[in-house]
Amino acid sequence: MTIAHAPGKIILVGEHAVVYGRPAIAVPVTQVQARVTVEEGEKEQGIVIVAKDLGRVFHVGQRESKSAASPLQATVVNVLTYLGLSLEQDLTIAVESSIPIARGLGSGAAVSTAMTRAVAEHFSKKLTAEEVSRLVYEVEKLHHGTASGIDNTVIAYERPVYFVRGERLETFPVGRPLSLVIADTGAESPTRIVVGAVRRAWEESKERYEALFDGVGDIAVKARWAIERGEVGQVGRLMDDNHRLLQDMGVSSSRLDALVRAARRHGALGAKLSGAGRGGNMIALVTAQTGEQVKHALEAEGADGVIQAEVEASKDLVPSPASSVVPEEEQ
Ligand code: MEV
Repeated sequence: MTIAHAPGKIILVGEHAVVYGRPAIAVPVTQVQARVTVEEGEKEQGIVIVAKDLGRVFHVGQRESKSAASPLQATVVNVLTYLGLSLEQDLTIAVESSIPIARGLGSGAAVSTAMTRAVAEHFSKKLTAEEVSRLVYEVEKLHHGTASGIDNTVIAYERPVYFVRGERLETFPVGRPLSLVIADTGAESPTRIVVGAVRRAWEESKERYEALFDGVGDIAVKARWAIERGEVGQVGRLMDDNHRLLQDMGVSSSRLDALVRAARRHGALGAKLSGAGRGGNMIALVTAQTGEQVKHALEAEGADGVIQAEVEASKDLVPSPASSVVPEEEQ
């Protein structure tokens, strides 16, 4: 039996604007994981996918048209085809995940990543992180239309990324650890729907939305600079600024705003919604002293699950070449 995993993800700054070509920063969240096992099946059973959390079973066959396939089926078809392997296999693929669905934690991309890795490993094939990311992006595009590619990238590489749509991936050093508290509103919010709503709003008021996206892009550049230099307080302030712009874009909600306010009141350095918004998760940047009290405050405010996550400081602190992108006031 072959087993593969993939972590969840959280966007620190830059969601939505990243769909329109601005930079964004995301980090993996290893506290939640997708896990996929592949084993040889009975003769002639074909490829059977058991989605344990959904309580559903899918079959993969030659007839699967790409667009009609579920993300799970499309993932298997894509990876087998990419590896030059036949779809006429007898395999049982079991999928489970502790990543809440449609809450901004990258559950779809994580399941697809774990599945791509497990199938490749089962056939003793090695895939690079770039290959995995590309294959998962194909599935993301099929089901989320205008996905920027940030989810598959941060999850396949499993390290903090500074992401610009369509450009080569940049990783960057983290000067001091970042402690995060991630709280769930309990409301599902499918990315495709919120991204579609922002698209319609952008079509109606292009100038206003382009200005909002520019503001978010600026924040991402400054946040990278601050993260590299370990200026954690500045990262928090930038997260607050980003939340205000997301409110202006119309993707926050009263639940998200209440959780963000509670986190700030109890000592968070900054807080914002994360992911598509309208529901899903918010994140707060905390310190060793404030982490527990922010967590309890979010629980008291009615959060439906709170995760504490840590972005480790890099051992190698040489900033990558793109840190020549210096925020204006630092020049
Ligand atoms: C979803 O995790 C982040 C969005 O920016 C959509 C995307 O980048 O594909 C809302």
